[in-house]
Amino acid sequence: VRRLRVALLGCGAVGAGVLAHLRSRPDLFELNPVLVRRPEARAHQDGVRFTDELGLALSGKPDLVVELLGGADHPAEIMARALSGGAHVVTANKAALARHYDALHAATREGAARLAFSAAVGGGTPILEALEQRGGHNGPVRIEGVMNGTANFLLDRLAAGDAFDDAVKEAQRLGFAEADPAADVDGHDAADKLSLLIRAAFGKAVDPAGIPKDSLAQADPAAVKAARADGLVFKQIGVCELSADGQVKAEVRVRAVPAQHPLAGARNEENRFILTCADHSVQTLCGKGAGRWPTAAAVFADIMDIHRGLSEPEKMEFAASEPSRAPALLRA
Ligand code: HSE
Repeated sequence: VRRLRVALLGCGAVGAGVLAHLRSRPDLFELNPVLVRRPEARAHQDGVRFTDELGLALSGKPDLVVELLGGADHPAEIMARALSGGAHVVTANKAALARHYDALHAATREGAARLAFSAAVGGGTPILEALEQRGGHNGPVRIEGVMNGTANFLLDRLAAGDAFDDAVKEAQRLGFAEADPAADVDGHDAADKLSLLIRAAFGKAVDPAGIPKDSLAQADPAAVKAARADGLVFKQIGVCELSADGQVKAEVRVRAVPAQHPLAGARNEENRFILTCADHSVQTLCGKGAGRWPTAAAVFADIMDIHRGLSEPEKMEFAASEPSRAPALLRA
């Protein structure tokens, strides 16, 4: 079994979890210095070096780059360069993927490399994997879901009577919220995820900036709390739909649904997706949508998958020869 040289870029809530997974398999992975903002503030960990220099983090031609930085444009540039140079890339960065999908796809072709991003939508909920397995004449036509764990957590806290700002601080402390929680509160994160779901399900490009969204900041906390007594639950819900003439409609809304609605039971940072196919069959998927360990586990599953592919090249060749709409894994 080959030992892969790994460049880990970012060591925040998710990155620290991925680092723990990588360190648990020194037989499989050799770590470059890990890219962080303030290496001097990092506690010593055996066998791990931290750096704030990108060049050092990417030194020695890594086999695999794991991108867990914040932001969109800069990480996308780093990933495109790594891919076109032949390194495989794993990321959970939905903002970078949603905005730079085509450029990243082109880079996978240029470098004959793989880009895997199962964790970018749903955290530990395998919605992208479910879509990857569907196609043909009975493909998906509608996806509706609670796809932002922070927004769901905040609405749960408001329903319980907590103050909005306290709930945001708690979501940050628990590692659910984005570096700038406005991405969660204002629906941008859910729109990025919808854009990726639309690629995966319908093979269409939709700019997340053009997806209409409600902000949680406009929800009246008293109404969210009072809804319970009326058998209603407020949720941030993302929906995308493919019409018979091939048009895509998408939106992120904050609305009250009956307590019996399949999305109403999503608690705290849970994500839930209702997937409808052309034959009207319906599948519901649930799981932890945010937080260190569920997301790190999904990232590490992608890393192990790439490791397996490189250790068993004949299997990889077989995978690469399949016609692929694979959303969570762009193959060269
Ligand atoms: N901030 C995101 C959320 C993280 O709360 O869902 C997972 O994508």
